[in-house]
Amino acid sequence: RRHVLGLADFTPAEFDTVLQTAASFREVLSTRTKKVPALQGQVVANLFFEPSTRTRSSFELAARRLSADTLNFAAGTSSLTKGETILDTAKTYLAMGADMMVIRHREAGVPHAIAAEMNQLGVRVSILNAGDGQHEHPSQGLLDLFTITSLIDFEYPRLGLLAGKKIAIVGDILHSRVARSNIWSLTSSKAEVHLAGPPTLLPKLLAQIGDSSLPNRNIFLHWELEPALKDADFVMTLRLQKERMTSHLLPSLREYHQHFGITRDRLKLCKPDVKILHPGPVNRGVEVSSDLMDDPEFSLISQQVTSGVAVRMALLYLMGSGKN
Ligand code: CP
Repeated sequence: RRHVLGLADFTPAEFDTVLQTAASFREVLSTRTKKVPALQGQVVANLFFEPSTRTRSSFELAARRLSADTLNFAAGTSSLTKGETILDTAKTYLAMGADMMVIRHREAGVPHAIAAEMNQLGVRVSILNAGDGQHEHPSQGLLDLFTITSLIDFEYPRLGLLAGKKIAIVGDILHSRVARSNIWSLTSSKAEVHLAGPPTLLPKLLAQIGDSSLPNRNIFLHWELEPALKDADFVMTLRLQKERMTSHLLPSLREYHQHFGITRDRLKLCKPDVKILHPGPVNRGVEVSSDLMDDPEFSLISQQVTSGVAVRMALLYLMGSGKN
């Protein structure tokens, strides 16, 4: 595959390739040098048209650990402010020799439009979607998958390990590209995926989630928290995306926490060894109680960030190998 734009069309074999490659790079990251020469001479351009802490920094670190050169673009200090278009911006980085472009934009479809333009130009650049609007965030979905499967088998993480597991995804499903990418990866396994949220943030029509093939997948919707949490192995909480909500959709933070916040008391409904994930950034004390978020017995939040570097190394390596 030339580009990674989403997980909707990933095959189980492709998920396993990424997981195994990430496991190898996790080994590399545990060595003293933490670096391999795999992408020496290649250029990775991080084109972030929307803010990011984790994704941008970990793609940059991943590229450097693979010995690639990195170019970092921030919309606010770029020539976009003078009216340059997004496509012309991408072509400018192409002219500087970018082999891969990591793209985040607040509108769904921007990485796809850039990939289509690059295909039309007949150039070998790869586009990686680092989050497009409410559509997909594939590297987050992959790092979540890596974090969960590594917990089950650290040496050999793979999709098949999720068979029989119950995974609850809780919160602002409507606005969440992370939820969409996770739905695609997790429903490709034999896990049961339970979505829970208030009706305003969990679309009643599955079609609104974005694909008519979803009803054929192992997915369940709940407008109350308890059935989703019951006997869950993993609880994935999502940030309330206030910046994407129109005011009539916005529950008060207190009200949300009261009905859908993950607390120690509510965790008693889950399996005793349940783990909590959150893609970050977290609204502390809203999606998950503050003390739980910091409790290593339950929280995988730091591990998700750590996994991000190995998984993004895997993606860049798999996209970039063969280009030297
Ligand atoms: N999870 C995630 O995408 O975080 P950032 O917005 O900080 O990159």
